[in-house]
Amino acid sequence: MVIKSAEFVVSNSDVAKCPKSTLPEYAFIGRSNVGKSSLINMLTGRKSLAKTSGKPGKTQLINHFLINKNWHLVDLPGYGYARVSKSAKKIFQKFITQYFSHREQLVTGFVLVDIRHKPQPIDLDFMQWLGEHGIPFSIIFTKADKLKPKAIERHVEDYKNVLLEFWEEMPNYFITSSSNGLGRDNVLGYIEELNKTL
Ligand code: GTP
Ligand code: MG
Repeated sequence: MVIKSAEFVVSNSDVAKCPKSTLPEYAFIGRSNVGKSSLINMLTGRKSLAKTSGKPGKTQLINHFLINKNWHLVDLPGYGYARVSKSAKKIFQKFITQYFSHREQLVTGFVLVDIRHKPQPIDLDFMQWLGEHGIPFSIIFTKADKLKPKAIERHVEDYKNVLLEFWEEMPNYFITSSSNGLGRDNVLGYIEELNKTL
């Protein structure tokens, strides 16, 4: 997919105030600092469309971006990072669950996980919650530039083995790096295919 335009639309703390438009949308979720905002910039080819930071807790609202005038990408606050205060975590958690349970325009969620780490309970629990609520999702492994190809393979294999203890099938997944653009065509191609089915 060619990205012809990518514009920031609005930030919200309340899902009820998100754009009324019924354009299809795709949301990025995962632990704080996993690379959600960076991935949005990498996919759109706009360096600072979404705000990123080395410090966790940068994205604090539900942010809508309009892509090619016909679909939305959504950047969300991260869940579960020890350095974000307990009250901030609670607020983020509320936006996140409300967003996923109420946003009818959501076509699929992308749960981002850092490819370097072993499966974390907080991510597995969130995927479980999405499954229980019938919300489709794919997994996006981030920061693949930090590992050698063999290690990438091994980490993905380990992740699969843990997921298959809970799921009958491995969810659809992508291996990405916002530093070198790995996975860009695959993720955009997937979104393009889904948009065509709507
Ligand atoms: P919150 O908004 O706090 O929830 O974080 P986020 O998930 O949006 O993470 P963000 O995109 O702000 O990135 C966090 C840090 O990871 C930044 O220092 C990024 O430069 C770095 N980062 C993100 N993606 C990659 C990647 O693919 N490779 C490498 N090497 N660093 C990355
Ligand atoms: Mg962010």
